Amino acid sequence: MVEPTALLSIQGLRGGYGGKPVLQGVDLDIREGEITAVIGRNGVGKSTLMKAIIGLLPASAATLRFKGHDLVGTTPHARARLGLGYVPQGRDVFPRLSVEENLTVGLSISGVAIADFGAVYGYFPILKERRRQAAGTLSGGQQQQLAIARVLVGGPALLLLDEPSEGIQPSIVQDIARIVVDLNRKTGLTVVLVEQNIDMIRAMAQRCYVMDKGRIITELTPAMLDDRDVVRRHLSV
Ligand SMILES: Nc1ncnc2c1ncn2[C@@H]1O[C@H](COP(=O)(O)OP(=O)(O)O)[C@@H](O)[C@H]1O
Ligand SMILES: [Mg+2]
Repeated sequence: MVEPTALLSIQGLRGGYGGKPVLQGVDLDIREGEITAVIGRNGVGKSTLMKAIIGLLPASAATLRFKGHDLVGTTPHARARLGLGYVPQGRDVFPRLSVEENLTVGLSISGVAIADFGAVYGYFPILKERRRQAAGTLSGGQQQQLAIARVLVGGPALLLLDEPSEGIQPSIVQDIARIVVDLNRKTGLTVVLVEQNIDMIRAMAQRCYVMDKGRIITELTPAMLDDRDVVRRHLSV
């Protein structure tokens, strides 16, 4: 059987900050319709990889293709319009804007013209309840939900989630995991999940890659993360 072509195909991706190289030649294929986890110790370059994919970092690559489009040299804006959605580590909602204004910003980034927040409010009812409230007054978990919703309103084909569980209470982590899995099952949304939270990966991912020193070094099945030795070897938890 022929392997399905990757939604996102990365070969030899390099990039860093100023003179400092971080990504040392990343090879990674993200398959359409899957939730793929990327794990690795702090500082190995996971967030840098997400930024290079969305175009926030100067990067070079032998291959960087999304839905058949060559992304090399294109702007973050152009990538968002192609259907790449990025939820950064630390969330970054606009604290003084209301929940609904944050969602409106998400729409303008993705180029979607019609403001219909019904679907995301369906997934995140707390955001509907708080839609006129300043985002800075929400709890960390609610801000994470808003950061995800702000990307979802643009109807992305691929969602890049960078450590969504960081600093969030376990019940909200479970809610977010359930909602993203539901979106994946119902709409075919493809997801790349950078996480340290093994339970969250187990609840969500079909595939797991390990990053070390700016490269993808191996692939694990999520079930292999039940082995403490495997986790100790690949994570600093
Ligand atoms: N804005 C930045 N400027 C300079 N160096 C950075 C910046 N962000 C991250 N780094 C460095 O790049 C390396 C990889 O960081 P990062 O991609 O954030 O790792 P991870 O997400 O895996 O914890 C680290 O050495 C980090 O200190
Ligand atoms: Mg990071």
